[in-house]
Amino acid sequence: MEREKFSSRLGFILISAGCAIGLGNVWRFPYIVGKYGGAAFVLIYLAFLLVLGLPIVVMEFAVGRASKKSAALSFDLLEPKGSKWHLTKYIAMAGNYMLMMFYTTVAGWMLLYFFKMLRGDFNGLDSAGTAEEFSKMLVDPVIMTVFMVVIVLVCFTICAQGLVSGVERITKIMMLLLFLLMVVLAVHSVLLEGGAPGLEFYLKPDFGKMKEAGLGEAIFAAMGQSFFTLSIGIGALAIFGSYIGKEKRLTGEAISITLLDTSVAFMSGLIIFPACFAYGIEPTSGPSLIFITLPNVFNHMAGGQLWGALFFVFMTFAALSTVIAVFQNIISFATDLTGCSVKKAVFWNVIVIILLSMPCVLGFNVLSGIQPLGPGTTIQDLEDFIVSNNLLPIGSVLYLLFCTSRYGWGFKNFVNEANEGEGIAFPTWARVYVSYILPLIVLFILIEGYIG
Ligand code: ALA
Repeated sequence: MEREKFSSRLGFILISAGCAIGLGNVWRFPYIVGKYGGAAFVLIYLAFLLVLGLPIVVMEFAVGRASKKSAALSFDLLEPKGSKWHLTKYIAMAGNYMLMMFYTTVAGWMLLYFFKMLRGDFNGLDSAGTAEEFSKMLVDPVIMTVFMVVIVLVCFTICAQGLVSGVERITKIMMLLLFLLMVVLAVHSVLLEGGAPGLEFYLKPDFGKMKEAGLGEAIFAAMGQSFFTLSIGIGALAIFGSYIGKEKRLTGEAISITLLDTSVAFMSGLIIFPACFAYGIEPTSGPSLIFITLPNVFNHMAGGQLWGALFFVFMTFAALSTVIAVFQNIISFATDLTGCSVKKAVFWNVIVIILLSMPCVLGFNVLSGIQPLGPGTTIQDLEDFIVSNNLLPIGSVLYLLFCTSRYGWGFKNFVNEANEGEGIAFPTWARVYVSYILPLIVLFILIEGYIG
């Protein structure tokens, strides 16, 4: 049977961008920027996207397109006979599952906030009140479980319907609406009275502030965020490469996706930071940041309840598009590896993902005594750390080495694949950089981060 293809190029770009754009841009990006001192961190993050993230996106697409397989079989197919590159699939799959272990919960928060907005739960509350609403949600394991399960079921149902008809159509609409709404909200926030210091915090680099948060740790976090936001190193993008034709060179596609992803993250900073300062919310609030900031924004807007509900529904879609992409990967992994049917893969993975998501949910209440990364931290922090600061960078280095080493797929094969079609070519002068310097930078930051 011929492998399914995307019905259009726009579909491919948007669905890959849909995989990249998600909670990482709107939930994780602002709170990490807040934690590490603002604009200086943003600069390093942007640099990492360009010099570390972008080439790896091209490589993942190339491996996917050349093999027409998910990470479960792509290395087996392309590796030199007798080599062990195919073991990379286990890191990739661990990354996919581990990412979902907390992502489904936060996606559930978005959905819950949509209903809370609709119901007017935040009407008339001040900053302390909205913070309390968030805390009330965290101590309720039942409500969080219900919403997490809804997310898992909806996404697996979409995946079970097949790639082109299901995922592509829905993702396209979601992404476009989210974009439009975020532009409106960014303009509104930038014009907020009292928001100017927030803009300064976000846009005027102050490396002193970043040093206060710990320079080594900040650099480690910037790398983690750039890998997280692109979902690289776990084959989540490679799978989409496996569904495209050879009409376009891959570097141009990777640039489009990175730009779309970055513009959403950038806009979410423009929405959040002026609002933090205008309403007296600490940018260092952590994972609760957008959930305590945004209701304040909407409370002070004409028609805010409606805008708020729309924001959280589109945000839920953005999270769903990432979850769908990762589930697609998980399902392909099961079918490619075991030859089982999609239905069977979906059935078992629904159960597995729900069970795996429970520690994160319970970590905020029943298991809140477990503080794995120090006082005040949660199981979610640990899972996030394992994914963003370990599995994604390690997986990315493996993709890198595979595509550049003559003991792997090799630079020539990679470049030939990446440059097939029309568009921007992957520069062959970058060979030394991607083969030696880039993996060393990632490994250095990884080790340095651990020592720090
Ligand atoms: N890249 C995904 C996101 O940013 C994981 O949400």
